[in-house]
Amino acid sequence: MPHTAHALDTQAQTMVATAASSAPSVLNAQPWSFVTTPALVEVYAEPGSASIPTPSAARDVRLSCGAAVFNIRVALARLGRGARVSVLPDPENPLLVARVEVTGDAPDPDLDALYPWVADRRTNRFPFRDRALPAGVLALLHDAAAREGATLRLLDGEPEYQRILTLIRKATLVEEEPVREDRAARISDGAAPASIPVGNLGPVPRAAGPDVPPVRDLAEGLDLPGRGAAAFEPRPDLAVLETPGDDPAAWIAAGQALQRLLLEATGHGVAASFANQPLEDPDLREDVSSSAAHYGHPQMVLRLGYPRVRPPATPRRPLAEVHRRVEE
Ligand SMILES: Cc1cc2nc3c(=O)[nH]c(=O)nc-3n(C[C@H](O)[C@H](O)[C@H](O)COP(=O)(O)O)c2cc1C
Repeated sequence: MPHTAHALDTQAQTMVATAASSAPSVLNAQPWSFVTTPALVEVYAEPGSASIPTPSAARDVRLSCGAAVFNIRVALARLGRGARVSVLPDPENPLLVARVEVTGDAPDPDLDALYPWVADRRTNRFPFRDRALPAGVLALLHDAAAREGATLRLLDGEPEYQRILTLIRKATLVEEEPVREDRAARISDGAAPASIPVGNLGPVPRAAGPDVPPVRDLAEGLDLPGRGAAAFEPRPDLAVLETPGDDPAAWIAAGQALQRLLLEATGHGVAASFANQPLEDPDLREDVSSSAAHYGHPQMVLRLGYPRVRPPATPRRPLAEVHRRVEE
């Protein structure tokens, strides 16, 4: 078949796959693979590479893949291409998360503008500055999620803020041992490609009186040399990303919304980490959503703020492991 003017050459396909694999993923498992041709990009869920023993594993894999789909849209816009996305296009193959067709339509300038932040974004588990985000910035992040069909519910009322904090703490207490052990095995002191290096964990949160900060210590209970301890900002902005539905398509939408708002945040100097532990337990997840001002199903709990430290990039699996190029 003759290639059209907007076909992707080898270099462009590599650029798109590299952007896709820069997406955040649950415990950096990178539970995905990408197939590219000059005319399209396919994203497959690879649950085997995650195999995280939590009830939320299937959801977390789709969220991660959704974030990768968003990066593909951004990379295509940077390449001057349009994109037509079909989510779960093949009922016979539920692991095919999305097919992104490259089109000759004008690229979306809003997506193109986000491209520089694809490589810059980091999950930041270090203390933030003790400074609330301005309303204008919060509105922008809310809008980013809304454009992907999700709601960023800011926990700005004191009772709701405290209620979610309590659920975060409770979740840490009820977590089962195999889950904790699996996480420990995913923390590395080197640069193992599908792990979280100790240098990305942030310091051990130092309790300020009775209040444990709402920062997730992924290495809780592990004695890792050289991590240090630090006091965290006393009251970070917390928000819950929610979707109207709660099926695989909704999780993929949530992943796209997550990545859109994280890239916007990065561009505005705002960092994020996650406190998802109550969403990994079905009962506690139910509790997160059962509030008066309830928009939908909770998908991510975010801690947002202005960073003090820029963490290093977390390693990625070699591109050849996750990307296959197919000539049409
Ligand atoms: C669905 C999902 C759930 C996550 N949950 C947590 C979490 O609860 N705590 C946390 O610190 N990071 C969490 N992360 C962040 C990942 O650990 C992070 O994306 C990964 O280690 C890669 O690092 P990077 O985001 O800096 O590229 C989550 C990411 C995704 C996509």
